[in-house]
This record gives sequence, C-alpha cells and structure tokens, in this order.
Amino acid sequence: MTTSFGDTLENATSAASLAHSRAVSQKIEKAIAEDPSEFRVLTGDRPTGNLHIGHYFGSLQNRVRLQQAGVDTWLVIADFQVITDRDGVGPIKERVYSLTTDYLAVGIDPQKATIFPHSQVEGLNQLMLPFLSLVTDAELRRNPTVKAELEATGNRPMSGLLLTYPVHQAADILFCKANIVPVGKDQLPHLEQARVIADRFESRFGHPAGSDKPVFARPQALLSEAEMVLGLDGTKMSKSKGNTIELRMSADETARRIRKAVTDSERFITFDPENRPEVSNLLRIAGMCQNRDPRDIAAEIGNGGAGMLKKVVTESLNELLAPVRARRAELEKNQDFIREVLRHGIEVANERAEQTQREVREAMNMVY
Ligand code: TRP
Repeated sequence: MTTSFGDTLENATSAASLAHSRAVSQKIEKAIAEDPSEFRVLTGDRPTGNLHIGHYFGSLQNRVRLQQAGVDTWLVIADFQVITDRDGVGPIKERVYSLTTDYLAVGIDPQKATIFPHSQVEGLNQLMLPFLSLVTDAELRRNPTVKAELEATGNRPMSGLLLTYPVHQAADILFCKANIVPVGKDQLPHLEQARVIADRFESRFGHPAGSDKPVFARPQALLSEAEMVLGLDGTKMSKSKGNTIELRMSADETARRIRKAVTDSERFITFDPENRPEVSNLLRIAGMCQNRDPRDIAAEIGNGGAGMLKKVVTESLNELLAPVRARRAELEKNQDFIREVLRHGIEVANERAEQTQREVREAMNMVY
C-alpha cells in the first residue's frame, strides 16, 4: 500500500501539472491492471440530495469499475461537510440512507466496499487537530475549491469549517491510508493539500517509534476523463435546479423531465456542441447510455426533430436505469439491511482509524 509515483508541489491547476496528473493517472491504471492489491481508493459524496445521472456518468460507474477490478474501495458519506455552507443538516438521516441505497443499487458491493459516514469515526475527526497545525490560513484562503464553494454560497461569510474543509477532507483520505482518489480536475487542489499534509506530518513529527515508514500514504489523483454532461436546460447539472434525472425517479418522471428539456428551433438534429449546446448535450447523454458516438445517434434521428431526440434520450436512460431502479426499489423495502451495511462500514472504519491514531500518537511522542 505504499506505492508512490512521485508528484509535484506546484500549483495543482497549472497546465504542466494537469499534464503531469494525467500521466500519473495512466501509470496508476496500468499498475491496477497488474496488481490491484497495491491500491486503496477513497472517495465519497456529501449527503445533500439524491444522486443523479451526472454522478452516475461522472463517478459512480468509475467506482464500480475500480471495485470490480479488485481495488479495496472506501466510500465516505461526508455528513459533516453538509454544514460547511449552510445552517442546518436537513433530513440528514434519510439522505444518508438514500445515498447508501444508491451506492448499492449501482453495484457497490458491501462485501467488498467500506461505506461510512465520517461523523461516526472519532479517530478520523481527531486528525483535524494535528493536521490544522500543518496548514496556514493563507494557504487555505488560496485554495481554488474553497474559493469556488464560497462564491457558490453567494458570498455568505466564510465559516471556519468551510475554510478548513480541505483539511477535514485530507483526514478522510489519510486516516485509512488510501493511495488513490478518483477526481475531476477541479478537485486536484484537494489532493495536493492532502499530500502536503502527509509530507509535513512526516517532516515535523517523523515516524512512529521503531518504524521507518511514514504514518500516512501519499494519495494520488486518478483523473476522470469522463465528459461532463450538462443539465436538461443546458446549464450545470444541479440537485437544486431540477434540471437532471435522479437515479431514483420513475420511468414516467424521467419522460416528463425530458419532455421539458431545452432544445432549439432547428428541426434537423446534428451533433454540434459549439452552436447547439443543448441538443448536443442530449445526444451525449443518449450516447453515454448506449455506449455509442453521439454523432451516429444524431444521424439516425435527423429529420425526426426534437420530439424524436427526446424520445430516444428517454428510452436510453430508462433502459440503462431500469435494473438500477429495480434494485433500488428492493433495497428500499429493507432498511434494516441498509443499517447493517452502515454499521459494518462504521466498525471497519473505526478499527482503521484507531490504528492510525496509535501511530500518530507514537510519532508525536504523545503516549503517556
Ligand atoms: N467533497 C466531496 C464532494 O464534492 C465529498 C468528499 C468528502 C470527498 N471527502 C472526500 C471526495 C474525500 C473525495 C475524497 O461532495
């Protein structure tokens, strides 16, 4: 679990660094194919709403792929992260259960994966104290993801938790010694922050007594090259804008939503992302469902116009999601099972966290 691919400490979003991250990702993919047991992946979501097709194409499929390839898979339900930018937790319990149900419905296997809400793992949260000593407020204020999140809240005053959430996210990753984190390129600064924390912990506190190994693995980003799908109105897909298809929706609800999707006044359907972003986005969604080139689908529809396009998108999505929805409906009837899956994940995560805490205290000479 100590595979290291070397990386850079320069600005994580620069072009050079992006190219570097791509190269590292390719190496990791090759290494996974050779020996998946070298890897532990950690990723997760905030329980703020229901998972939708953006999550499905953007990350869920990839997580299932890694799990099937034999990579040890950890999924954090980031319930504390919900309150970085809002006052209340909302219907948190329902959302945590719903998120777990979505994970299982898309094919995450609770026998193979560890699913846990981070609020339940004391040893993970306890890492915040030493980790906060390793970062400066200037560094956190510069973090592009923190800035973007702050803007997204309409410039409400920044909470201490929003400012420091990259540190908490580093704790999510480092406590279980995950060495890969699948991310989109906008999330690269987070990974950079986690690596900086792992490095500084080692250089300031050293290793646990009698060990020559650092406490924390240095996590690498596994860059997702999945093309971003937009919402049904051609703007960024968002849980709150009602412009997406949630995994849990029925086939009828899906049809109704897609009927209202934005298209344009030109009848003949073509794939032209530059000039026809909404139509092209719908074609892309159909393409992803059918695993086909959106241009071929456009050619088939041609004179059929927007009506035919919407019919194709609806049918493609409903066909793709039918088995997911059927599994979801079954799982929903069995809340005891969902609770068991969470209990088990929480137990495994706590064992791991307590072991890490022992190493942390040893490295810091805080064993009394
Ligand atoms: N911030 C992620 C989100 O956008 C969720 C998350 C929390 C996460 N901790 C993580 C992702 C650790 C990857 C690794 O919802």
